[in-house]
Amino acid sequence: MSEFSHVSVLRNEAVEALKIFPGGVYLDGTAGGGGHSYEIASRLGAEGRLISLDRDEAAVAAASARLADFPNAEVVRANYENFDRVLDERGIALVDGILLDIGVSSPQIDEAERGFSYMHDGPLDMRMDRDESLSAADIIADYPADELTRIFREYGEERFAKRIADRIVREREKAPIGTTLQLAKIVEQAVPAAKKRDGHPAKRVFQALRIECNRELDILSNTVDRMIGRLAPGGRLAIITFHSLEDRIVKQAFRTQEDPCTCPPDFPVCVCGKVSAGRVVTRKPVVPTEEECKANPRAASAKLRVFEKKQQ
Ligand SMILES: C[S@@+](CC[C@H](N)C(=O)[O-])C[C@H]1O[C@@H](n2cnc3c(N)ncnc32)[C@H](O)[C@@H]1O
Repeated sequence: MSEFSHVSVLRNEAVEALKIFPGGVYLDGTAGGGGHSYEIASRLGAEGRLISLDRDEAAVAAASARLADFPNAEVVRANYENFDRVLDERGIALVDGILLDIGVSSPQIDEAERGFSYMHDGPLDMRMDRDESLSAADIIADYPADELTRIFREYGEERFAKRIADRIVREREKAPIGTTLQLAKIVEQAVPAAKKRDGHPAKRVFQALRIECNRELDILSNTVDRMIGRLAPGGRLAIITFHSLEDRIVKQAFRTQEDPCTCPPDFPVCVCGKVSAGRVVTRKPVVPTEEECKANPRAASAKLRVFEKKQQ
């Protein structure tokens, strides 16, 4: 396997947002190459603790190597949706900060055999965790046309979603679609030549398949509230997203955690009894500087939002 090389996005901004103090306990839910984890670990002091998770075994190996000099940092292969279990197993009740930097790492995209890229030929895989059973090829082979249309439209914002889905269904009746370039070609043929905008049309379809294959939106929606629940007083949750649907989930969840009251607006006092968990630190998301985007074009769509648990 080639060297694991991923440039951390919004590295300083995200790590600063966590307000790390020596002796604190931190969780990085998406270790990747360990870039953010390294910055956290360097600020912990001897008494602090860092638990870093990733569902991808190549990332776990890379992050473990990167953090080898920090005895108080541990990398665990786990889906961040199961972070509760990982903390419970270690007897950790509350943490002082949590970071999520969701999406894919550069090696996942760049290594042809992972099947994430429409530019390199490889098996149509796209599983971040290769122990999971559902691959992108299974989705392409088995989903009915209207489900394919929905995911291309919702997760890829693809306006020719139906045409592409219908074309896939016709092609798969002739022969199985098992490789990335096979699919990229079918997508390209389905989109009218005059309407090709914003680069290769397969880009959006591949993004949609990746999100579906790895249940990325469901996992995020299921986890944000529980993560806030597990923060110590004053603790912070920082989340970097790369897709507008992800950002919307985070924005909405943070807003509801800040103001969960469900009483009608004309009630003079709150009777629903729901209490705020804390405050949204970032009214507007933090985005990368122009300089960062120039140096690393993959940072361009990143948005960082931060929530702070209230002091008791
Ligand atoms: C953008 S990279 C993280 C990069 C990292 N912050 C760094 O500085 O190197 C995203 C990582 O999150 C992992 N990931 C995505 N969804 C996950 C999930 N539900 N649970 C655990 N890891 C996940 C991916 O495997 C990938 O390695």
